[in-house]
Parts: sequence; structure tokens; C-alpha cells
Amino acid sequence: MLYNEPSPLEVKVISKRFGLPNSASLDTYLATDGYKAFQKALSMEPGQIVDEVKASNLRGRGGAGFPTGMKWSFVPRTSPKPKYIICNADESEPGTCKDRLLMEYDPHQMIEGMMIAARAVDSHAGYIYIRGEYRYLIEIMDRAIAEAYARNYLGKNILGSGFDFDLFTHSGAGAYECGEESALLDSIEGKRGIPRMKPPFPAVSGAWQSPTLLNNVETFSAVPAIIADGGAAFAALGTPKNGGTRLFCLSGHVNKPGVYELPMGFNLLRMIDEVGGGVRGGKKLKAVIPGGSSCPVLKASECDLAMDYDTVAKAGSMLGSGGVVIMDEDTCLVKAALRIMKFYAHESCGWCIPCREGTAWLKKSLQRFHDGFGRESDIDMIGELSKNMLGRTFCALGDAAAMPTISFVEKFRDEFEAHLNGKPCPYEHASELVTA
Ligand SMILES: Cc1cc2nc3c(=O)[nH]c(=O)nc-3n(C[C@H](O)[C@H](O)[C@H](O)COP(=O)(O)O)c2cc1C
Ligand code: SF4
Repeated sequence: MLYNEPSPLEVKVISKRFGLPNSASLDTYLATDGYKAFQKALSMEPGQIVDEVKASNLRGRGGAGFPTGMKWSFVPRTSPKPKYIICNADESEPGTCKDRLLMEYDPHQMIEGMMIAARAVDSHAGYIYIRGEYRYLIEIMDRAIAEAYARNYLGKNILGSGFDFDLFTHSGAGAYECGEESALLDSIEGKRGIPRMKPPFPAVSGAWQSPTLLNNVETFSAVPAIIADGGAAFAALGTPKNGGTRLFCLSGHVNKPGVYELPMGFNLLRMIDEVGGGVRGGKKLKAVIPGGSSCPVLKASECDLAMDYDTVAKAGSMLGSGGVVIMDEDTCLVKAALRIMKFYAHESCGWCIPCREGTAWLKKSLQRFHDGFGRESDIDMIGELSKNMLGRTFCALGDAAAMPTISFVEKFRDEFEAHLNGKPCPYEHASELVTA
């Protein structure tokens, strides 16, 4: 069974093998130009590879949207230490469910992207850090790696080129925090997954204090197309400084939820109406979280915008990891804020006080408020508490909890007020918020 019906509006670059018979197998990959980009990369100077990725305007698909080519250029290629390539496959952000498809349907594409990165920075070992709940994907990745070793696409002297690269999977234990790159590094080293002080950044001192190039699954998966067709061709698919296509995960109150590959800059309202088939049950759109649960919510009136990093940032939110959560007119946004805060309170690693205590207090306050025991002054208190967390935590999980909450209070104050004075939730019998 295919993940979801493709849309005719999709531009399939990295999802082009989804739905092919045995799409995950090496034979299918080779029959559809697989590993040709790596062979091309072998004939290029490492600096040329980095320049091509820079020219593509590819930005990291894990959340922050950092320019990928620039990150690659930070790795000191001539360092005498070993250099590592790490793929972040922790995918835990509520609303985001794209990396799992890339691994399930096209694992070799991601492996090839990692190999090209290895060639660019002179690395000979890589790890794929997969979230613990993705057990079945670890098996798929292990099978793909074994196939690649058997045909000498991995290992020593790959295809007679003299280039060596070993690749391993590493399972997380199901902690959202271990998707944060420095906590991931501690976890991969066998320690408790808590974030590290930055700088130094992983490119300079990462796994085992060695230079480490760490990117998201989707980021690595885009690399073969960039090398095969040239960075300029990839860049031209998107908007200035936002190259290429990306996988958008449409979830919530939409007729055709699913994962769709669309050019960067695709209009959000068109995405909901023309790709997602419109709001479920013909209801009115109330709000959208454009990039996963850590992004500030957009009101329906703010949704006529191009989905690229810069335009969404200008609108006061973030493109994040591509998790587009659609909420209709019957959604209680106090409950949505509460649901999100329950997640962050549960996932806070407890290392620093503003996040550990702040998320727990916010969860309790939002719960009490939603249950009808809130006071008018609590509305400001919830907003102020969130603002006090912002920028004061050790890693960005604190911000990820604070930012959506601030936006819910500021943009939907009337919904908080509608819960005051012991009134029952006005939406209690309406539809539930569905994510992913
Ligand atoms: C709390 C937290 C969780 C994160 N989880 C993920 C994740 O599951 N997958 C991911 O790729 N990046 C995640 N990130 C972002 C990573 O720290 C990092 O920026 C990213 O993997 C870099 O890859 P990219 O440049 O290709 O986006 C998370 C960040 C934070 C603060
Ligand atoms: S912000 Fe939260 S998740 Fe990050 S280190 Fe502090 S307690 Fe841990």
C-alpha cells in the first residue's frame, strides 16, 4: 500500500521512487540511476562538491533551515582526526512524518547522499541515528546497508575507487531531545542524551570530539539529485535562498492528509485546498501550524503565503520540519495548546530549570484553564511564563515549547476568555485535533 495518493501538483525529485515495486531494493535503485551521483562525485574535487551543494540553496530539512553547503564547508577536511557523517533520523516533532517514508521507500538515496558528503569532507565512517519507535525502519536500513556492502557500494575501495566508507545504524530509545544534534551525539557515544554547550559546533568537534557532519534524512536524500543534475537546477525549483522541493506533511482537518513533495514557496492555501483537498467536511479553516508543533500558529487570515523559510519567518512563524497541521473552525485552541504542552513537558530532558519547571507549570495551567477553572489573569500569566522561557534554556526545546504557546495566547485570546467563569469548553463536542 502506498503512503497516500500522490497529487498532480507534486514535483517529484526525492520522492520519485515512492510507489515503485521494491523501491527500497538496490536493484530498483540501480535501475533508476542510483549511485550514479556518487560515481560523479568521485570524479569531482571535494571543494567542487561543496560548491555544488552551496549553489543548490539547499537548507537543512531538520527544522532550523541552516544552509547545507555552508555547514559542509565548516568541516575541517584536513583535520588529522577521523571525521564522521551522521544522519539525524530521530524524527519526533509532532506533525512531521516524512523521514520515515524516505527511509522506507528509498533508503539507498539517503545512503548515497551520506556517501557524497563523506567524499566531500574526507570521512570514512557514518552513523544513522534512528528513533527507537522506528524499529521497522532500522531493519530496512540494515538490509539496504548489507546490500550495499555486498555489491561494494560501501566498505573498502568502493567500486575500485580507493575510497572507503563504513556505515552503521544506531537506535535511539525514543527521546525527542535526542533529535537535538548535540544530545544525539552524547546518545550515540552511549551517554544520557542531554545537549552540549555550543560552540564548538559538531562540524568542528562532534562525535568523539571529532569533526562531524550532521544532517537530517531529507537533507541527505536531496544530495544525489543536486550532484547528478547540478546545484543550479535544484535551486531553480524553489525560491531565492530556498532551493528545491521539500516534503510537506499535511495532517489534521484536511480531506487528503499525506506527505507531498512540492516546490519551496508553494502557497499554503493552495496546499490545503488543491493538494490536501480542502478542509475536512467543508468546514472553515481556523488555524495552521506550518512546520511542526514547535512553530507559532498562523491564523487563517495569515495563511495566504509562500511556504519557504524566509516568507514564513516574516509572517512570524517557521517552516520547521514541514509538518503542516490544519485546524478547522471547531478546534479548541486552548486544547491544542494544552496537547502540545503535554508533549513538551513529557519530553523535557530536565537538564535546565526554565524548561523543566516551565513546561510542567504551563501544562498544569493550561489543563486547569481548559477544565474551566482559569482566571482572567492566568491568560497573561501563561503568555508571560512562556516569554520568560524564551531564549533562557540550554537547548531549543524550551523555545519550541514557548513559541507556539505565546502565539496561541496572543492570536486566540478570545478562545481563552471563552473558557472563563466555569464555562465548559465551547468546542468540547466538536472534532478533535488530529495530528499525523
Ligand atoms: C529538541 C530538538 C529536537 C530535534 N529533533 C530533530 C529531529 O528529530 N530530526 C532532525 O533532523 N533534526 C532535529 N532537530 C534539529 C537538529 O538539532 C539539527 O539542527 C538538524 O538535525 C540538522 O540537520 P539539517 O541541517 O539537515 O536540518 C531537533 C532540534 C531540537 C532542539
Ligand atoms: S531546554 Fe529542556 S530539553 Fe533542552 S536542556 Fe533544558 S531541560 Fe533539557
